[in-house]
Amino acid sequence: MQKTAPPKTYRVKSFGCQMNVYDGERMAEMLAEKGITEALEGEDADLVVLNTCHIREKAAEKVYSDIGRLTKGKTQKKAPMIAVAGCVAQAEGEEIMERAPAVSMVVGPQAYHRLPGMIDNAVNGVRSTDTDMPADAKFAELPSRRKVSPGSFLTIQEGCDKFCTYCVVPYTRGAEISRPYSALVDEAKKLVEAGAKEITLLGQNVSAWTGEDEAGRKIGMAGLIRALAKDPDLKRIRYTTSHPADMDDELIDTHGEIEKLMPYLHLPVQSGNDRVLKAMNRSHTAESYLKLLERFRAARPDLALSGDFIVGFPGETDAEFEDTLKIVDEVRYAQAYSFKYSPRPGTPAATMDDQVPLEVMDERLQRLQASLRRDQQAFNDASVGKTCEVLVERKGKLDGQWLGKSPWLQSVHFTGDVQIGDLAQVELIQAGQQSLGGRLLETVLA
Ligand code: SAH
Ligand code: SF4
Ligand code: F3S
Repeated sequence: MQKTAPPKTYRVKSFGCQMNVYDGERMAEMLAEKGITEALEGEDADLVVLNTCHIREKAAEKVYSDIGRLTKGKTQKKAPMIAVAGCVAQAEGEEIMERAPAVSMVVGPQAYHRLPGMIDNAVNGVRSTDTDMPADAKFAELPSRRKVSPGSFLTIQEGCDKFCTYCVVPYTRGAEISRPYSALVDEAKKLVEAGAKEITLLGQNVSAWTGEDEAGRKIGMAGLIRALAKDPDLKRIRYTTSHPADMDDELIDTHGEIEKLMPYLHLPVQSGNDRVLKAMNRSHTAESYLKLLERFRAARPDLALSGDFIVGFPGETDAEFEDTLKIVDEVRYAQAYSFKYSPRPGTPAATMDDQVPLEVMDERLQRLQASLRRDQQAFNDASVGKTCEVLVERKGKLDGQWLGKSPWLQSVHFTGDVQIGDLAQVELIQAGQQSLGGRLLETVLA
């Protein structure tokens, strides 16, 4: 590789989950620290970071086509320096280096604090790969928070020890680690000082977080939420994603007691059939999951529920799929994500017998999504007439229109005299499946 001028501008493109969004922001902060500024929209960037996701098929293919588009002048006029980060980098780093000579560096999700040094290497004509997984090392090395929006993310836990048989995350993100309590309290404070009104605590298994508070007491995520809620300038707290196995009584009680903890719970079930759940290595049954939800709803009756589903896991029969429709009918999710099973290299399910044909998966997904759409519409319809606080996040497409989130994480649009970051009192007046229309009653300066 040839020597090149140091990059002056960057663009970070994040795919996949919110943890990648968070990592993308932290990388951007690091680049800013190095004196590299964010390229404006439509402007060529000297450095492009592709922050990739490996959760479903075609992820790697997408990376190669993005690289091709960048080098062939289709995305921008001048080919940039390219860094591949994220979970595809972790899983297929060496292959990327071999197949894509245009890539200057490959950096895994636990190693991106070393990105600045890798950029120096690239400037000197040296390509580098770093997919080390030093537990908890990167956070201490990252600069202070500055890329902040009213609704900000805070990664509190990383990695996964659950090993669901279909999933790559334990391999791409490594073992479960919890970030220390003091570091989180400190980062939350910085986020709030920089303008965050809502913080979403993130982790692949966020409620598996454990730590020690100031007094040295062992606490779980509920304790962390209670501590963060004490900051008067922080108005809302959320968390995602949880595994049913990690939900304890204290967390359930917290939903009833801490008003800042928003009435929304994303708790993936994946399937409604116990044989399939067992084959997936999920530790819950349909019944234990429903019982758990009952306890949450008892603590917070207006809780909006969200979930993830996989259709067509190897060996899933028609009757077993029907159980997934049944659990959906029972729970009535406010919102959900659903996917066709995608075999991931290196995971146990990829080599199981009885892979389900694509047509069957397509048909099941359509039926499942019809039910989920029905329930989302019904949930939104039932919100019409309610008055709630909406956190204003950005301008809408129409003149004078604003977009924000209700406590139940619905997108709400309305017009009126507000600013980004305000908490507006809004009456919900009209419901679509994906969003609601509201009428501004008053603005509470948050
Ligand atoms: N840690 C979270 C979510 C991780 S990935 C949890 O355990 O719930 C997000 C979602 O992607 C999963 O909940 C699952 O529904 C889906 N997913 C993961 N691996 C998949 C695969 N191989 N094929 C299809 N969907 C998958
Ligand atoms: Fe993947 Fe299961 Fe871990 Fe979630 S709990 S990240 S689905 S292995
Ligand atoms: Fe994707 Fe990695 Fe997140 S595989 S879903 S970016 S943890």
